[in-house]
Amino acid sequence: MESISLKNISDYLNKTVSLKGWLQIKRGNNHIQFLQIRNSGRIIQVVVEKEKFSEEDFSKIKTLHQEMSLELTGRVVESEKSELGFEVILESYSILGDSIDYPITPKEHGTDFLHNNRHLWLRSKRQLAILQIRNELSYAIRSFFYKKNYVLLDTPILTGSVGESAGTLFETEYFDLGKAYLAQTGQLYLETGIFAHDRVYCFGPTFRAEKSKTRRHLTEFWMLEAETANFDNETNIQFQDIFIRTVIKETIEKCKTELKILERDVDKLNSFIQNPFLVISYDEAISTLQSKKEEIQWGEDINAERESILTDHYNGALFIKNYPRSIKAFYMKQNPENPKTVLCADLIAPEGVGEIIGGSEREEVLEKIIGRIKEEDLSLESYSWYLDLRKYGSVPHSGFGLGLERLIAWIAGLPHVRECIPFPRLMGRLDP
Ligand code: 4AD
Ligand code: MG
Repeated sequence: MESISLKNISDYLNKTVSLKGWLQIKRGNNHIQFLQIRNSGRIIQVVVEKEKFSEEDFSKIKTLHQEMSLELTGRVVESEKSELGFEVILESYSILGDSIDYPITPKEHGTDFLHNNRHLWLRSKRQLAILQIRNELSYAIRSFFYKKNYVLLDTPILTGSVGESAGTLFETEYFDLGKAYLAQTGQLYLETGIFAHDRVYCFGPTFRAEKSKTRRHLTEFWMLEAETANFDNETNIQFQDIFIRTVIKETIEKCKTELKILERDVDKLNSFIQNPFLVISYDEAISTLQSKKEEIQWGEDINAERESILTDHYNGALFIKNYPRSIKAFYMKQNPENPKTVLCADLIAPEGVGEIIGGSEREEVLEKIIGRIKEEDLSLESYSWYLDLRKYGSVPHSGFGLGLERLIAWIAGLPHVRECIPFPRLMGRLDP
């Protein structure tokens, strides 16, 4: 008999199936035992009725250990109480692999202990749900861009120039060529692609040597970046709005069980994505903060705490556009209406999540971008290829980057991004 995947369990109602999986937990008494069996990221209850087994076999079942791998045969029946809607009535079983003293038990464990055992912790129920959400969200993201005729352009991870800011680079020696950096963004490479394909995106790991120990910083995170020719900042914002609301909606649709396991208030999340997100200017954000007695001056960056004050005040996600030039990256286009600001926008998510997207229109005028590179003390030489884009058919263009783990944290209602990636890299963590 071929063993089934719990992802297709509904195809097997009232049939006898073979199921290979792992024993998550076990409970019961001398008459009946309930095994929670994990397969394909799902968990099903397997019911063991004493009368179906010899005294010896039933006693053996009572001694099975957590995380043993098993092969089971049984009949699939409907079960209203269970999350999957089905359970299996056991007919026979065999042990495939033993498991002795599995360290993660049903009792409470500390965060550090769980992260040290991340390689095993991935099997736990909440972690299964989070990874399923990540999987569905990643799929929704890729399919959104595919449907919108964007071409996937994979950008390099080893780079010779600073992508975002000199302060947070991981560097390494690169043969005879001097220093190489781990990519902080694929953007500059993505910009090359618009001249060939008009609309391009990349989706991969990104690296920041962030010396910050916050709930929303990883040193390695996944970023979705998109770049579009002949797109201005306003169109870019509208596009991001549709993009984010679409992928959240699709993920909620696919992950009802997972969101329930995580006890996410889905109605609340849905309420945030019913209507287009609000767009305010940086100036307006500063006056609102000042009206709330925050001591912030025009020109300062808006920190996480203040982002939360704003999303609470406006009761939802919001784009903040046109930040001061001095606190944003060199490639952002100067605002013709106020040269002290740039044509950019950050998307700030509510519920304490904060900035999930950074985007902008790009400076397409050669002289201006050279000026900005010099101002930032970056080496003009290492940008010579990038500057070519402003020499040969330069056009207005815009793009943005979404931090995947931050969006997962928002959707799943998690307080920290570190559970949103299988193996988090943090200042103090490189293993497992
Ligand atoms: O705002 P950032 O730095 O923008 C860029 O890198 C642009 N080059 C993107 C573009 O226009 N193509 O980063 C974009 C997003 C942030 O809004 C945030 O969601 C996420 O990436 N991010 C991080 N996520 C986790 N840990 C970190 N250390 C992050 N730094 C940025
Ligand atoms: Mg940013």
